[in-house]
Amino acid sequence: MASSNTLRTLGLKHIARGIGRSTDLVISKAAGSYVYTVEGKKYLDFTTGIGVTSTGHCHPKVVKAAQDQIGNLIHGQVNIFFHEPMIKLIEKLKPIMPSKELDTFFFWNSGAEAVEAAIKLARHATGKHNVIVMQGSYHGRTIGTMSLTTSKTIYGSGFGPLMPGVYVAPFPYTLHSPTQKGISQDSLRHDLTTEYAIEQLELLLKQQTAPSDTAALIMESVLGEGGYVVPPKEYVQKVRELCDKHNILLIADEVQSGFGRTGKYFAIEHADVVPDIMVMAKGIASGFPISGIVSRKELMDKQPPGSMGGTYSGNAVSCAAAIATLQVMEEEDLLGNVAARSQEIFGRLNEALPPLLNKRDIQVDIRGAGLMVGLEFYGKGLEELQKKLNSKVSDAVAQHCFQKDMLVLTTSIYDTMRLIPPLNITKEDNQIGIEKLIESVQEVIN
Ligand SMILES: Cc1ncc(COP(=O)(O)O)c(C=O)c1O
Repeated sequence: MASSNTLRTLGLKHIARGIGRSTDLVISKAAGSYVYTVEGKKYLDFTTGIGVTSTGHCHPKVVKAAQDQIGNLIHGQVNIFFHEPMIKLIEKLKPIMPSKELDTFFFWNSGAEAVEAAIKLARHATGKHNVIVMQGSYHGRTIGTMSLTTSKTIYGSGFGPLMPGVYVAPFPYTLHSPTQKGISQDSLRHDLTTEYAIEQLELLLKQQTAPSDTAALIMESVLGEGGYVVPPKEYVQKVRELCDKHNILLIADEVQSGFGRTGKYFAIEHADVVPDIMVMAKGIASGFPISGIVSRKELMDKQPPGSMGGTYSGNAVSCAAAIATLQVMEEEDLLGNVAARSQEIFGRLNEALPPLLNKRDIQVDIRGAGLMVGLEFYGKGLEELQKKLNSKVSDAVAQHCFQKDMLVLTTSIYDTMRLIPPLNITKEDNQIGIEKLIESVQEVIN
């Protein structure tokens, strides 16, 4: 077998440089919460391939379902056939949708494609063209979705002109809201953030994109790439009210926050809000490529036959893996596991990190929901430590975790890390991960 070095050299030579990579590991195997390099070195995986391998790597029931499906039917092209696994998947998905009204599905492969499908649907169903996005949003890297993405300039810079008709509203990101200047972390006012963000959204609709031109507002139910920020429930509810008032469709992008990641099947359920269109991908099939949108039949059926579809749309093997993933979620009570492991993470990090960071006059915002956990470092001492490290604190902590054989990701333009362990991570592996992280912060601080 070729060594990691040989394979890495070939990869560096022949794989597009535009793919950034947080490690240079060459992996050949993965199981549960661990990935293994070609040489057999083992890493605890708190990335889950960016929130994808929800049931852990290669869950035996998902593997079996995919293997069985491959023997029967691999490709049942949607513009030619109905295929059994897709219909069965719909039967499995229907009961977990945020509302019974969300009963009509369209499947695709990637999250970005599904976002594109949602925008197409919204434009076609409303006869309007503009789209409102949230500041800090991430929706993908196609021309359309990169136009909707505002988390970092790297995604769109140099690739223009982008899709016109996109307007940006501030996300209720309390830590960075102009309403919180001079307010200490203990007394941050989410109500003021909400008020401000809603005011700005109303202004946007009066000054820049008239409701009569605005087809949709698309929002991640938890801001993902933008820093794992949970919007206040009141904000999401007010957005719903404004959308209703102005006949604007609310699209919930649940690509990263969906399928149990935040402790409910979909994060928007925390706000008791039902979107008009919901976008799903990532965790749905434990690593098999499949994405989808769901909406009300009367909206979805406005699109004429032939206007939707795609060669690989709703692949049969991916559908079978998605059914198995949902079965595992029920049989192994993964939502229960998310709640328990989440409590451990938040409890231990809140106890251990602030006193460590205080020494350098740095604070940490530990936030998120379920097993979608963000840690943002901020405060007076941050710049000094960043200068000393010659990097963000989050990058340095991730590097130290890596030295301890643990994989974690950073995110956002701020100094933020994100923890995304599998939904079925064991108590033991969870504890190992938490302690490695704390030790890494300690080392970076010293
Ligand atoms: C919220 C959100 N939407 C859309 C996407 C795009 O998904 P994909 O990378 O599968 O195209 C992502 C990917 O990270 C995402 O997090």
